[in-house]
Amino acid sequence: MDYHQLGTSELKVSAICLGTMTYGQQNTESEAHSQLDYARELGINFIDTAEMYPVPPRAETYTRTETIVGNWLKHQPRDQVILATKVSGPRRAIEWIRGGPKALDRSNIRAAIEGSLSRLRTDYIDLYQLHWPERNVPMFGQYQFDPTQEKAWVPIREQLEVLAELVQEGKIRYVGVSNEFAWGVMEFVRLANAHNLPRIASIQNSYSLINRGYEFGLTEIGYREQISLLAYSPLAFGYLSAKYADNPKASGRVTDFPGFAQRYEKPNVQPAVAAYAELARKHGLTPAQLALSFVYRRWFVGSTIIGATSMAQLEENISAWDKPLSAEIMTEIEGIHLRYMNPAP
Ligand SMILES: NC(=O)c1ccc[n+]([C@@H]2O[C@H](COP(=O)([O-])OP(=O)(O)OC[C@H]3O[C@@H](n4cnc5c(N)ncnc54)[C@H](OP(=O)(O)O)[C@@H]3O)[C@@H](O)[C@H]2O)c1
Repeated sequence: MDYHQLGTSELKVSAICLGTMTYGQQNTESEAHSQLDYARELGINFIDTAEMYPVPPRAETYTRTETIVGNWLKHQPRDQVILATKVSGPRRAIEWIRGGPKALDRSNIRAAIEGSLSRLRTDYIDLYQLHWPERNVPMFGQYQFDPTQEKAWVPIREQLEVLAELVQEGKIRYVGVSNEFAWGVMEFVRLANAHNLPRIASIQNSYSLINRGYEFGLTEIGYREQISLLAYSPLAFGYLSAKYADNPKASGRVTDFPGFAQRYEKPNVQPAVAAYAELARKHGLTPAQLALSFVYRRWFVGSTIIGATSMAQLEENISAWDKPLSAEIMTEIEGIHLRYMNPAP
């Protein structure tokens, strides 16, 4: 396992981060703890969660995942684990969080961090992330900015000032953004520089063989401003394992929760997945190994956030670390990419 420094922070995270958003819905507490133990044994020191989890988001289940992670964390040497969680902003489809929808203002960010610290049974969060921008941006499968949807939002400077207070109080070490776009990232950087506020260490965005939108603009920003990508959904919700190509009724998140995977229900997803699966098998890899190995070693990825609902999946996914892709395979990937560019933005 490699370890990467996250942005300009002092966090040295494993190249693979264990995602947790299935804990409390698709995975029981004991399954979750087995996953966490296994990942730790293999050198993974980085865990990602959120107050909103598990998914699909529901009023009855939200916060369960953090509780499950906290019950595990209390038995770990705290300084050996790099813990990331997220505060939710307002969102029409998710109206129950802290009695929401809530703005990303001082009182809400403070209420969120207190809830997370208590559920996670810790005094501090290593990386505290804004789960999605509060302002009007296309999200979770939408792909066009629509000025007619403009609405009021808490200024980014105010959000950063609250986060600065939490850093000073020792409740969080570093801050990050998620589901962000070029304008937002540059605004966070500009305001941090101008007002001596915390500098974002990372941006957690979707990135996979069938969603390489991050490469338009954000790779350059990440490089010049020293911000690391935390790549989420590297298997495109399981699509890139090719299990739904092999059997459209295969059991999993996509078939169990109709409508949840709408980001991937776009015309060129199926042919692209089929092409990548064929390439993988031609080279003696599983489709999941090809997809993960591709993300694991992109130069701009600080850590790849993987997810699994079984130990067999987790083993396969971590084992992909030992299968770096040859130059020949990378060339073939670019050929497929040029044919079906970003079918699941
Ligand atoms: N910031 C955000 O907005 C955001 C959004 C999404 C995720 N995340 C983070 O990123 C983490 C990972 O995201 P993700 O779960 O969407 O990642 P993913 O790699 O795209 O999907 C993981 C899912 O694919 C299936 N799968 C995994 N390995 C497999 C294999 N070897 N063969 C067949 N199926 C396999 C499993 O679901 P089934 O068994 O149900 O098929 C698993 O839960 C999350 O836990 C969370 O921490 C963040």
